[in-house]
Amino acid sequence: MRVAVVFDSAFDWSPDQHAAKMAKEIANRRNTEPEMHYQIANSLRKNGNDVLLFGIKDDPHAMSTQLGEWKPDLVFNATEAFLDNSNLDYLVPALLEAEGYRYTGAPPLALLVTRNKAMSKKILAFHDIKVPSFKSFRAGESPDENTNLRFPVIVKPLAADASEGISQASIVHDLNALRDRVAWIHERFDQPAIAEEYIEGRELYATMIGNGDKAEVLPIVEMVFDQAGSRPEDRIATQKSKWDLDYRKRRGIRNVFARKLAKVAQERLMRTCYAAYRAFWLRDYARIDVRLTEDNEVWFLEANANPFLSYGHDSAESAHKAGMRYDAFIQRIVDEAMSRPA
Ligand SMILES: Nc1ncnc2c1ncn2[C@@H]1O[C@H](COP(=O)(O)OP(=O)(O)O)[C@@H](O)[C@H]1O
Ligand SMILES: [Mg+2]
Repeated sequence: MRVAVVFDSAFDWSPDQHAAKMAKEIANRRNTEPEMHYQIANSLRKNGNDVLLFGIKDDPHAMSTQLGEWKPDLVFNATEAFLDNSNLDYLVPALLEAEGYRYTGAPPLALLVTRNKAMSKKILAFHDIKVPSFKSFRAGESPDENTNLRFPVIVKPLAADASEGISQASIVHDLNALRDRVAWIHERFDQPAIAEEYIEGRELYATMIGNGDKAEVLPIVEMVFDQAGSRPEDRIATQKSKWDLDYRKRRGIRNVFARKLAKVAQERLMRTCYAAYRAFWLRDYARIDVRLTEDNEVWFLEANANPFLSYGHDSAESAHKAGMRYDAFIQRIVDEAMSRPA
């Protein structure tokens, strides 16, 4: 098959230049993790596909021209942003949509709705899925005595990801601190803030793969924290606890496969995952993040329509546990994208 891997890039490079960079990064993979798009392209090649590496810097027309000439059977969408802005991650799929290409992963609607942490919770509430109570605050709005939330509350940018803007200071215990943190989000991120009631519980990540009735939930990953010396509300996936390896080591933070869940918890988790996958029009693959409380209630945190696909990270690890080595996992995404109704 002819598969074009499209990704956002800081460089104005030709496919050949990217191919050369990919070869270098793959050869050095034991020392430094190759970029996700190179990992994907490398697997696709090993699987026998004809692969084009297309990096978009700032000119979407260049993609149209290149794809028009190369004529892929499928576009593997490995973009995470446009112009370094992850809020514009829907742009490339929207263009692919307009030009009639078949591409992997979520459509623009799913990317937009899941990115908005208020909109997505409202939709799942309609389906009777448990979501934390929340209030959103746009520029110029501030919490007051009528802000009816039970503390502690966690304050986040409304539409960021990768735990951007999330640290221990995101958890607030009173109205004054809530006001300050909301103002800080407005100022620092230039976007609305969402304040959610804090859910104490285990942190679980469910990667899904497939479509329609055949979508599967892969083995569940849990982020675990050293219990000693930390309060429950310290145990959240902050930016540091996700990405800073030294910090993770110091705090005993690890992503592991979740030990077997109680039957009722497992059922609730499955119901939440399938409801989210369908309600958000997710496609081919996605990751649903939840919290599981002591009394086996499952609370939806967020859906990731375009989760990180690199080797050794949560989704690829789940796939591996389900029997798919990395190359097979990437090929499975291609096969899912080819076999669904457009
Ligand atoms: N309502 C909540 N209750 C408890 N923890 C939360 C809540 N919302 C977010 N968190 C913590 O913060 C992390 C990041 O929040 P999330 O909404 O997933 O943002 P991002 O899109 O940046 O990943 C979660 O993985 C979880 O650990
Ligand atoms: Mg998250």
